[in-house]
Amino acid sequence: MSKIIFVSNRLPVTVKKHESDLQYSKSIGGLATGLKSYHEQGDTIWAGWPGVSSDDLNEQDMQTIDTELREQYNCLPIFLSEEEIQQYYEGFCNETIWPLFHYFTNIAQYNSETWEAYKQVNQKFFDSIDPIIEPNDTIWIHDYQLMLLPQMIREKYPDTQIGFFLHIPFPSFEIYRLLIWREEILRGLLGANLIGFHTYDYVRHFLSSVRRLLGKEHNLYKINYETYSVQVEAFPMGIDYDFFAKSSGTDNLSSEARDFIESTRTVQNIISVDRLDYTKGLPERIKAFKQFLQKYPEYHEKVRLNLIVAPSRVGVEAYDELKREIEGLVSAVNGQFGTVSWMPVWFFFRTFSQEDLIAFYRNSDVLLVTPLRDGMNLVAKEYIAARSDYKGMLVMSETAGAASELGEAVIVNANDYGAIAAGIKTALDMPDHEKIERNKMLHRRISRYNVKFWADEFLEALKNTAESHVETKDL
Ligand code: G6P
Repeated sequence: MSKIIFVSNRLPVTVKKHESDLQYSKSIGGLATGLKSYHEQGDTIWAGWPGVSSDDLNEQDMQTIDTELREQYNCLPIFLSEEEIQQYYEGFCNETIWPLFHYFTNIAQYNSETWEAYKQVNQKFFDSIDPIIEPNDTIWIHDYQLMLLPQMIREKYPDTQIGFFLHIPFPSFEIYRLLIWREEILRGLLGANLIGFHTYDYVRHFLSSVRRLLGKEHNLYKINYETYSVQVEAFPMGIDYDFFAKSSGTDNLSSEARDFIESTRTVQNIISVDRLDYTKGLPERIKAFKQFLQKYPEYHEKVRLNLIVAPSRVGVEAYDELKREIEGLVSAVNGQFGTVSWMPVWFFFRTFSQEDLIAFYRNSDVLLVTPLRDGMNLVAKEYIAARSDYKGMLVMSETAGAASELGEAVIVNANDYGAIAAGIKTALDMPDHEKIERNKMLHRRISRYNVKFWADEFLEALKNTAESHVETKDL
């Protein structure tokens, strides 16, 4: 029987070792949370890193984690050492590819040692899944950490169906060309039968890089490459709509979440939920909120910005600095505008459970998502789904992949503080009938193009490309 193997750097389960105790928790980030619901519905096997350094584990720990993850979560753990984490994950993935692909060319670093580690860890992923690959299996590889893996699998298993999906933007050729190992990465990706991106812009950028760097043209998004063809398409990722729309919003709430909701009853609430990341435009968002308070004093004491930021990639320099910058900006705004009875910005540097977040969404008038660059942004879709009364409003920057699908939101430029401030006002003042009208259309779209639709559509397209590959060979 053929099976589906998902491969991603991060597993949906994160393991932490506390003294001699092994603790299992949900991973954060769009990829893990988005794909998890699909994985739970079907019989996929998911291979990836459980988020802990193998230097902190003994043989017995690894054995326990392996058994627990296989039996309880259908996951195959791939352990990374401290050095691999530093060189591959923090280094090449998050100091080279992540900033470059998000257009932060000024902080992207080019280091041949971390590139070597990237190649070695991609090889390690291959070696780890090799024993479970069988003829006719479908292998779906996810994201920028594993861009060499498709080619590695193709070389040993030429007849396997290999799909690759990039969860972050693929940048324009003028940016991509800055990468020293640009051709190796393209060749790595082209090992797949199907390569998916969130938007058509990313598809165009990828095809243009393939043409200009490898001299390969496409015909109707199909590239003839070596002995097979590679299909390139846009598949905008969706969410588990029913989970967010139908959840009660009151069950399993923490007492803190209840207090939080209680304390916001007398004001209009703006919420913002992100991982700590310089791509998310967090300092810019706080500065824009400051402008909002300066420009529209009638909102003083009547509005509150709840800034929820989940710790992420601790150890990568740019991330640690960002936290300090945010703290400084938040206290400056609170110091300037706050009163004895009102603190304009509430900053939470921590994660909340999904149930708590849904309750926050339901109690927030506006979701403010203004990334400088974001592959998709699923939080925006989760918020819309959770506001099943159609009375929330989204303010979103045009540089989030999701903006191309969510045109009824208030769309702004993430660098234009004045426009964000005006956008906040528009969203807060919008009459109910208009919000309902806009939200109806948004709901229709995101309920149809949900995560199941997305994954099924991708896997169906992958099946078709593999079938056409067999037919071509038979001729
Ligand atoms: C983004 C990436 C994912 C990643 C997530 C969390 O959504 O596209 O691949 O898993 O961020 O980042 P982390 O580095 O913690 O895995």
